[in-house]
Amino acid sequence: MNKQVFGLIGLGVMGQNFVLNVERNGFAAAVYNRTAEKTKKYVEGVAAGKNIKPTYTLEEFVGALERPRRIMLLVKAGVPVDAIIQQLVPLLDKQDLIIDGGNSCFLDTERRARELEARGINFLGMGVSGGEEGALWGPSLMPGGSREAYKEVEPIMKAVAAKAEEDGEPCVTYIGPGGSGHYVKMAHNGIEYGDMQLIAEAYDLLKHTLELSAQEFHDIFAEWNKGELSSFLIEVTANVFKKMDGDTGRPLVDVILDKAGQKGTGKWMSENALDLGAAIPTITAAVDGRILSAQKEERVKAASILSGPTKKYNGESAQKLIDSVRDALYASKICSYAQGMNLLRKASEEYKYNLDLGTIARIWRAGCIIRARFLNDITNAYNRNKDLTNLLVDEEFKKAVSTRQEAWRLVIKCAIELGIPMPAVSASLAYYDAYRSERLPANLIQAQRDFFGAHTFERIDKPGIFHADWDTS
Ligand code: 6PG
Repeated sequence: MNKQVFGLIGLGVMGQNFVLNVERNGFAAAVYNRTAEKTKKYVEGVAAGKNIKPTYTLEEFVGALERPRRIMLLVKAGVPVDAIIQQLVPLLDKQDLIIDGGNSCFLDTERRARELEARGINFLGMGVSGGEEGALWGPSLMPGGSREAYKEVEPIMKAVAAKAEEDGEPCVTYIGPGGSGHYVKMAHNGIEYGDMQLIAEAYDLLKHTLELSAQEFHDIFAEWNKGELSSFLIEVTANVFKKMDGDTGRPLVDVILDKAGQKGTGKWMSENALDLGAAIPTITAAVDGRILSAQKEERVKAASILSGPTKKYNGESAQKLIDSVRDALYASKICSYAQGMNLLRKASEEYKYNLDLGTIARIWRAGCIIRARFLNDITNAYNRNKDLTNLLVDEEFKKAVSTRQEAWRLVIKCAIELGIPMPAVSASLAYYDAYRSERLPANLIQAQRDFFGAHTFERIDKPGIFHADWDTS
């Protein structure tokens, strides 16, 4: 009997759709889920009549697959991944391959890769981005682990991945060893947090200044989606404003509680950036923004205690402000991606991932949540100079930011005057201003450190390490 070429464990929506995608592309699949009813419902429902074999025990699942087996896990990150690996491994043969397609922490992936390698089992930690739709019609895939193991599934992954509009290239590439695939996915998600926060701040400023309706917001974002901001998240935002709430007849967005959730990938990125000594202030501001938003009860109380400016907006014309916010958003976005790419560069050195930043930008062009026209510009910047130290110093991005600088500062001034928080937009501008500063006030910090702790300092006029006797003037 012919065996199936691809196995998937975990029939959540992502898993269900991913298998449909695999099968549609001509690969016979076997599926297993912890609860049998889900498997049954799936194969009798959307998967009916397709070459997708249901299995109800792990033994049956493993037995249904051709060797070396290709098994992908799409289960909740954390303990469930270890649990399923533990059950699976005794049933596998050497050279079989396990792919973890969840949002696992890259450090867990490093550990699992080591443990499995010691037992002769191949392992890939693969970032999968694009949500339910992406899983079904083409996600962006970020596989990391052994290159040979990736070769075993490369044809399948190339077939199921999203294809970039510009050149039809599949949005998947071998990322690098160990946990690099999940590392890159983590960075993708942190950048996703940054994009979402920046968009939310743009909305907030326009809402408070111009008191726009949901329809007007829809029109603005739809318009922005035609230009340099053109991206999945701007498109999603435009569409959000169209949705009305059946219960109240109001725009749904207006009745949604202002408490943002998070599953941890953005936070991991900020933690890791601190560990590696990389500055990612825009992304960290986005994580902080979610944390502050979640403290709703505290904020409601504080709102009745603390005061801010009371004046109303009476600045530029509505159109000028809208255009300025668009420019501020784009300039901030460039800073955010510059930070994200920088962190990848640092991680590549630190963990010996050997990441190709231009190629990573290329596989984010379609399928994933941060897909955007702008990713082509990043790819082009790395094509111009593969060792680019920071996107901001690329000729094109330098121009893009400097032509928007005035608008960017105007927007932040307006936010400060009116007391509207724009932490990510402000952090982006501060990053830009710090990065372009030949001299920062760290000389004073060094003096303070040496003053109270004899931490020493360097001088601008001669080499060496110095300590001053601060008691004598
Ligand atoms: C993707 C997304 C996805 C992520 C969600 C929710 O690339 O498809 O990044 O993997 O899980 O966007 O993330 P939070 O719950 O942390 O917002």
